[in-house]
Amino acid sequence: MDKKLQNVFNDQIKNELASGYLYLSMAAWFEAANLEGFAHWMKVQVKEEENHAMKMFDFLNDRGVRVVLQAIPQPEIEFSSVKEIFEKTLAHEKKVTALINKLYELSKSIDDYPASAFLQWFITEQVEEEKNATKILETIKMIKGDGSAALIMLDRELAKREG
Ligand code: FEO
Repeated sequence: MDKKLQNVFNDQIKNELASGYLYLSMAAWFEAANLEGFAHWMKVQVKEEENHAMKMFDFLNDRGVRVVLQAIPQPEIEFSSVKEIFEKTLAHEKKVTALINKLYELSKSIDDYPASAFLQWFITEQVEEEKNATKILETIKMIKGDGSAALIMLDRELAKREG
């Protein structure tokens, strides 16, 4: 595999794990706020990110590429509200979408057909990732006034997310 493509794939493994680390930090915030349903939703998201990283890890190994793991930075730990967390989640997913699209463009530009085919799954997955974050954010924005009852109901709803 082209060296530059290898490097960007290795970067992306780190980015996926860093996404999981950010969501784990958000889960910790929710746990501290006694919002266990929100925390559960984030913990499922952590597993999804790990799965994304592992798909790339396995793909590189299948291609005979040496996986080089990188340092994962400390994620943000303090948040001001539930709404802020989902705004940040959506913004983060948009950033990841842009990274995946760039990786795809690179694979196309150097005619690495297996990499392009492999990345199709991620392109579709990012639509789902952005949709999930948007749906929850839009629901949160509908909560007016004190809103604690609505927040508790949403917490119960998010507790049902399957892994
Ligand atoms: Fe791995 Fe949330 O994208």
